[in-house]
Amino acid sequence: MPRPPLFQRATVTRIIRETADTRTFVLAPSSGPFTYRAGQFCTFRVEIDGEELLRSYSMSSAPETDTELMTTVKRVAGGRVSNWLIDNVAAGDEVEITRPFGVFCLQDNDAPLLGFCGGSGITPVISLAKSALASTKREVRLLCADRDAPSMIFEAALADLVARYPDRLTVVRHLDSDSGYLDAAAVLAFVGTDTDADVYVCGPEPFMDLVENAFPGPGKVFTERFGAAAVIAPEGDDAEGDGAASAEVEIEGTVTIILRNKKISVPRRPGETFLESARRGGLTPPFSCESGTCATCIAKLVEGTATMRVNEALTEEEIEEGYVLTCQGVPDSASAVVRYE
Ligand SMILES: Cc1cc2nc3c(=O)[nH]c(=O)nc-3n(C[C@H](O)[C@H](O)[C@H](O)COP(=O)(O)OP(=O)(O)OC[C@H]3O[C@@H](n4cnc5c(N)ncnc54)[C@H](O)[C@@H]3O)c2cc1C
Ligand code: FES
Repeated sequence: MPRPPLFQRATVTRIIRETADTRTFVLAPSSGPFTYRAGQFCTFRVEIDGEELLRSYSMSSAPETDTELMTTVKRVAGGRVSNWLIDNVAAGDEVEITRPFGVFCLQDNDAPLLGFCGGSGITPVISLAKSALASTKREVRLLCADRDAPSMIFEAALADLVARYPDRLTVVRHLDSDSGYLDAAAVLAFVGTDTDADVYVCGPEPFMDLVENAFPGPGKVFTERFGAAAVIAPEGDDAEGDGAASAEVEIEGTVTIILRNKKISVPRRPGETFLESARRGGLTPPFSCESGTCATCIAKLVEGTATMRVNEALTEEEIEEGYVLTCQGVPDSASAVVRYE
């Protein structure tokens, strides 16, 4: 079945005030039913002061339990899009969103599910929890860390879920205002004997690092990073080791980029991503995180082969269909052609 277009318009049907600085936007996509998996996100395209900006927001709804599509946005101090959405978008307005992306999804097994959520990191995790509770028999335990009690997002929704699934869902609260930041001992105490669990972690970087490093395994840890992570260079790549292409050095072959009605070809450079090649050729393709997490830079590899340094957004199926994150994809073949949708 062909994939829906990358971008579509969606009407904001309702806005829910979750906390003083967090809103849920209930969306009605123009194409009708929106097929997504719990834990996925879509990317909003907005124009602010004449500039096009792209930011990703996870679904807080779950397809198994919610008839409406919801994304939940928390203000970031000094942030352009989060504050603009909260201050400017009203019920009845239209926004532009991509189709869903992301691999922070449920695995097909019976392992207990442990969620570690810091602040707005609860957004994809509540989606996963709703889905797991409704469609599996898995036990779900969430540790939600927040600055203080007024910052707790989905407090009532989680309490309702606990009341509905008292034997399968536990929510433990950690408030920095009471006991400082979460530490490794608290992570271990929460994991207890569930070391074979699937662990889902989303929150500020230091919070995520803490949980990832403390989890004893053998269960698996899955992460969703809201901030741009560092670009990881493949071993043996350019001498500077920062993932950037070797300036000026050219190797045999050509990279061709098709963007709307423009087609450019540039000589290949070692370690250069498709996005970098496109920019070198004078194009300005879409991108946001440049770290392999948001899929805004997606394009189809129509000729040649490529390797993505990091991929935290595309499913195996999308990769098999030829999609590539151009901010992470580096051609392996002498010539390669990518086409943006
Ligand atoms: C897969 C994914 C899912 C996500 N899901 C959610 C979600 O469900 N809910 C949610 O709320 N967020 C989510 N995010 C985060 C979201 O996409 C945005 O990153 C977030 O809203 C901040 O965007 P912004 O435009 O408001 O901030 P930006 O304008 O991007 O700014 C971010 C920070 O950088 C600082 N900054 C910006 N420019 C400069 C500069 N020139 N110099 C110094 N500092 C600067 C700002 O002060 C701010 O602190 C997700 C991100 C990803 C990748
Ligand atoms: S720009 Fe976000 S994955 Fe490429």
